[in-house]
Amino acid sequence: MTLSNLQSEKRLTGNIFLVGMMGAGKTTVGKMLAKQLGKTFIDCDEEIQKRTGVKISHIFDVEGEEGFRQRESSVIQDLIKLDNIVLATGGGAVLKPANRDALRKNGVVIYLKSTVHDLWQRTRHDHNRPLLQTANPRGKLQELFEQRDSLYAEAADYIVHTGKQSVQTLIARLIQKIDSSEDTITLSQNMQTLNVGLAERSYPIHIGQDLINQPEILLQHIPNKRVAIVTNSTVAPLYLEKLTGMLTGQGIKVKSVVLPDGEQYKNSSSLNTIYNELLSSRCERTTPLIALGGGVIGDLTGFAAATYLRGVPFIQIPTTLLAQVDSSVGGKTGINHPLGKNMIGAFYQPRVVIADISTLNTLPDKELRAGIAEVIKYGLISDLPFLEWLELNIEKLLKRDAEALQYAIVCSCQNKADVVGTDERESGERAMLNLGHTFGHAIENGMGYGVWLHGEAVAAGSIMAADLSRRLGWLSVEDVERIKKLFTKAGLPIKGPHLSSEQYLQQMGLDKKVEDGKIRFVLLKALGQAVITNEVPKEMLLQTLESNSA
Ligand code: NAD
Ligand code: GLY
Repeated sequence: MTLSNLQSEKRLTGNIFLVGMMGAGKTTVGKMLAKQLGKTFIDCDEEIQKRTGVKISHIFDVEGEEGFRQRESSVIQDLIKLDNIVLATGGGAVLKPANRDALRKNGVVIYLKSTVHDLWQRTRHDHNRPLLQTANPRGKLQELFEQRDSLYAEAADYIVHTGKQSVQTLIARLIQKIDSSEDTITLSQNMQTLNVGLAERSYPIHIGQDLINQPEILLQHIPNKRVAIVTNSTVAPLYLEKLTGMLTGQGIKVKSVVLPDGEQYKNSSSLNTIYNELLSSRCERTTPLIALGGGVIGDLTGFAAATYLRGVPFIQIPTTLLAQVDSSVGGKTGINHPLGKNMIGAFYQPRVVIADISTLNTLPDKELRAGIAEVIKYGLISDLPFLEWLELNIEKLLKRDAEALQYAIVCSCQNKADVVGTDERESGERAMLNLGHTFGHAIENGMGYGVWLHGEAVAAGSIMAADLSRRLGWLSVEDVERIKKLFTKAGLPIKGPHLSSEQYLQQMGLDKKVEDGKIRFVLLKALGQAVITNEVPKEMLLQTLESNSA
């Protein structure tokens, strides 16, 4: 739906209404937006306080939430009669259908959407939010989000994800959307966009249904009407024709390279095949390279993009859950070497990541579960509320419930974007994303590439890391059992394969996470709190390996 379509249903007022949860930034953004657009800013809560002469918390105390909602509705019904205002509505304003209707008919409604994680970070020290004055304010925030998210979306003409971008960047994006009457940015109502904040190398991650059919997302990243797609023999029959058809329909010339499928082909020979194809069809420095596939294709294509002609634009269209929540984000690209996995590579960020959730419908169950291992990883290392959500919703993910998948992908990508935004080249915090990977790589290497899926190895490796954390006195027995239960529910292995401790140790020694001869481990100080250490007594490590392998 375009903005001009929407405007035909609307009174032409010049009004902008910001909706969203408490802590989404409606007041801060609203004030700056109004200033830049020469409009009058009104904060709905302040207006209520002005009219009643008392604080919102007092109205809640005396009249309860319903009393407050009635006052809020009556203020909204008055304010929408004005013209040329920017209105920051209260977080619960959308609860009443009459309010949603009034806002939609009398201005452009923008949903400032944030993850619960970000909302919590922004509101946790604010004691002026009546609804958060409970024993479990984080849980309350989650509950309110779940109750209201779809209502904000229903009221909104545009959904804008706030992410980690600066207020100035956000304002610029909003003005662009509001200004452009041809704008089609609503795209699918359900699409969510996050931002990986890396200054001039920042890029968006779009997450939603059926995105590879939507030219407007991709076209802005293809400047010269030419593109090369790298995919494999499994993904090509499923999605290559669809993507190519969409692009050629827009007048884009498409060169495609179809590689054999498998981790064993993530090597220099496949890389050479890509170079050969690009050179023989004279792809230029401005020709973007699109990775259409899972992590293998993403890593390989990214490395080809980093090195072909010393670097060409790179676009990620991940089609496995693992790639959508992990490998497509953050710019780690590379290939395997006979002496070690991912040993040759480069940090090279994509220009955009397009995670089309519909592509997950064709993913084999085993691959879906492998992706869930990486999803659980984010909960374990940095997001306890997300871990708790996973404990309640893992079945929905296994049944490919679209809403649950989208929520899990957004939370995972937000967690990853936060880490990558602060430590792009893994000089510190980013190493935490490797929870379970030191053990996991030993499993993958020890068994031969492709025998254990990466996600399966990460699952068993995470249990080893949890067990070691317990031996170091950081996790309780119950914590470890809880983690095992979650991985088991997800259908993932919780024991490594039958390799001798010597084999494990040898394989770990080959892992690139070795510093000064000591192995660096990512362990858990607590659930939702990872820590990096190289102070692990060898005896303990051996006990962990022995009791957690078949
Ligand atoms: P993969 O790329 O091998 O894909 C798994 C299988 O699913 C393949 O057979 C593939 O052809 C098939 N497939 C892909 N999309 C499909 C779809 N929509 N429908 C049906 N089948 C589909 O494996 P993966 O798990 O996506 O990625 C694993 C790789 O990613 C490993 O090489 C690992 O090292 C790498 N990785 C990289 C990073 C990073 O930060 N760069 C992070 C994690 C993992
Ligand atoms: N998958 C780990 C990382 O991207 O750093």
